[in-house]
Amino acid sequence: MICRTIVEGTTKISVPVPPPDANFPPSAAPVFYNPEMELNRDINVAATAAFVERLLSRKDIQREEIRYVDAFSASGIRGLRIAREVGIHATMNDWSPEAFELIKENITINGLEEKVQATRKNANVLLHEQKFHIVDVDPFGTPAPYLDASATSAQSMLSVTATDTAPLCGAHLNSGIRKYAAVPLNTEYHSEMGLRVLLGACARELAKHEKGMLPLLSHVTRHYVRSYIEVLPGTKQADRTLKFMGFSIHCPKCGFRESVHGLAVHIDRECPACGALTKIAGPLWLSLIHISEPTRR
Ligand SMILES: C[S@@+](CC[C@H](N)C(=O)[O-])C[C@H]1O[C@@H](n2cnc3c(N)ncnc32)[C@H](O)[C@@H]1O
Ligand SMILES: [Zn+2]
Repeated sequence: MICRTIVEGTTKISVPVPPPDANFPPSAAPVFYNPEMELNRDINVAATAAFVERLLSRKDIQREEIRYVDAFSASGIRGLRIAREVGIHATMNDWSPEAFELIKENITINGLEEKVQATRKNANVLLHEQKFHIVDVDPFGTPAPYLDASATSAQSMLSVTATDTAPLCGAHLNSGIRKYAAVPLNTEYHSEMGLRVLLGACARELAKHEKGMLPLLSHVTRHYVRSYIEVLPGTKQADRTLKFMGFSIHCPKCGFRESVHGLAVHIDRECPACGALTKIAGPLWLSLIHISEPTRR
C-alpha cells in the first residue's frame, strides 16, 4: 500500500494514496480515508472536548480515566485526533488487517503509545466485551447492526454516524423500515426526518439496556447524519426517554403537520384541516435534537 502523510488538526497521519482516477471512491482503497469528512472530525474533536468538560464537572472522574473508542477506525484518524487534541485515552478498532497495521503505524508517528491502544476485532464483539465512556460509531452505511452493542458499551456518550440517508429519509422506504423499525416519510423536511428516525432507534436500543438519552448535538451534512447523544443510566431515565417517542402526522395536500407522543396511539387518518388522507411517520424521536447550554435534564 502506497501511503502519504497528511495533517488534520494537529495530528499527523499516514493514509493510502488514491489512484489518479477521480471517481475512485475512498471505500475502494485498502484502508479507508475520506478527506471530505475532515469537517465531521473537526466537529467530533470540538464536541468531544466539550462533553469531556461536562463529564469532569459532573462526575467523580479524572481525565486520565475517561475511555473513548473509535470502533470503526480505518486509518485511526478519529481516535488519534481525540487522544492528541482532547487529551483522553482512545482505543482504535478495525477488523481489517491492513487497517490494524496502519493504525499501529499512525500511533507511532504521533508518539501516542502511552495514550492509546489498537484492537482488531468485530466492533460488536469489542463493544459487548468492554465498556467505554464514549463510543464512536462510524461504519460504512447504516449503524443499525451495531446499535445494540454500542448501547450496552456506552456509559456516558454515544456518537453515531449514518451514511444511509436514503433509507433514513424515506427515499428507500422498505430499507428504512428494515433497518430502523420505523416508517420514514420522504417530505421537504427529509433531513430532520432521517435524524429523528436514527435518534428514535438509538433511544429504543439504549432503553433495552436501561439507559435514557439526551441528544447534545446533531447535524445532517452532505451524505450523512451525525449525532452526539449523552447516555443517562437507569430505568427512570430509560422510561422518561421513551416518553419522547411518537409519530408525526403529515398532510400531503395542505401541509398540515402534528406530532403525537406515545408508542400505542390513536391517530385519525383524516387531516383535521382539509379532510384529505394524512401520512404517518414513526416511531420517531420527538424531543430535542441538540441542547443550548445551560439546559439541564
Ligand atoms: C467508514 S470507515 C471508518 C472511517 C473512520 N472512522 C474515519 O473517520 O476515517 C469504516 C471502517 O470500519 C471497518 N469495519 C466495517 N465493519 C466492521 C466491523 N463489523 N467491525 C470492525 N470494523 C469494521 C472497515 O474495515 C472500515 O475501515
Ligand atoms: Zn390537509
